[in-house]
Amino acid sequence: MRIAIVRNGKELGERAFLEIKKVLLEKPDAVIGFATGATPLPLYEKMAEDHKKNGTSYKRVRAYNLDEYVGVDKGDKASFARFMRDNLFSKIDIDLANTDIPNGMAEDLNAECERYAEMVRANPADIQILGIGRNGHIAFNEPYTKPEEPTHIALLTADTRAANAGAFKDPSLVPTYALTMGINEILSAKRILLLATGESKAQAVYDMIMGRDDTSCPATALRKHPDVTVILDKEAASLLTFTEWENAAERRAAEASAAAAEEALVEEAAADEAADEEPVETAEETAEEEVPAEEIAETAAPAEE
Ligand code: F6R
Repeated sequence: MRIAIVRNGKELGERAFLEIKKVLLEKPDAVIGFATGATPLPLYEKMAEDHKKNGTSYKRVRAYNLDEYVGVDKGDKASFARFMRDNLFSKIDIDLANTDIPNGMAEDLNAECERYAEMVRANPADIQILGIGRNGHIAFNEPYTKPEEPTHIALLTADTRAANAGAFKDPSLVPTYALTMGINEILSAKRILLLATGESKAQAVYDMIMGRDDTSCPATALRKHPDVTVILDKEAASLLTFTEWENAAERRAAEASAAAAEEALVEEAAADEAADEEPVETAEETAEEEVPAEEIAETAAPAEE
């Protein structure tokens, strides 16, 4: 997990855009997984601005979104489908036929979840953009969701409904259910780009990186992924103390090296046993186990203001 800390939304958009650009340069027909919400807006603004200025093309890109409310029409201003069109797709040259989002108005919601899960399986994302909920959710995988659950109907927590009330005329109108990609489906992306801003996300960010490794904070699942970039503003990073980070990194490195040493001993014992049984063969040298590299925090220390 690489962590970059930036000073404000503008910097977050620019830094996040570098990750998208890298993918597009490697693969102009990349599959991009998008998130909605306030956090990725500076990135979408930067993508639109860059498209206008430099002509970066999304014509061959395939895009799909993480989630959608149940019972909200795609034309409704509060829908995530409309959010994507208004804030990004109408400002770049993406072909809307190459975009997908769960249909929260489907007559058979279970069948729609199956269709979506199948679509994601067939099109693993080259990069998946994520926000994080105040309760540590990713997409609408609320705390205690089983990671292996594929795209499903999620019951939104009161906190999530309150956090998302802004898009609705009245907080009571925030849907209770949403269709969401599952955690392991999210992890099937080749790269993950998680963005978080504001003090209200500081605890969730702390839990994601430093907290107990269980489903109480769904974002901890990202620790299993080999290519995650986290971009935070100072407020979202405010609970991460670097001493603590270093201690945790040291602890994990020590655990990894102890595990590697144990594995080497087992292999050595097995080799000795084999050598005893077949004395004709020369004893093989015990290969030195490479200690798995520990997660490295690439922290861009914020410049003095
Ligand atoms: C949105 C989504 C959610 C949001 C999260 C943060 O598609 O899946 O997980 O990323 O709720 O939302 P904001 O950015 O509005 O704070």
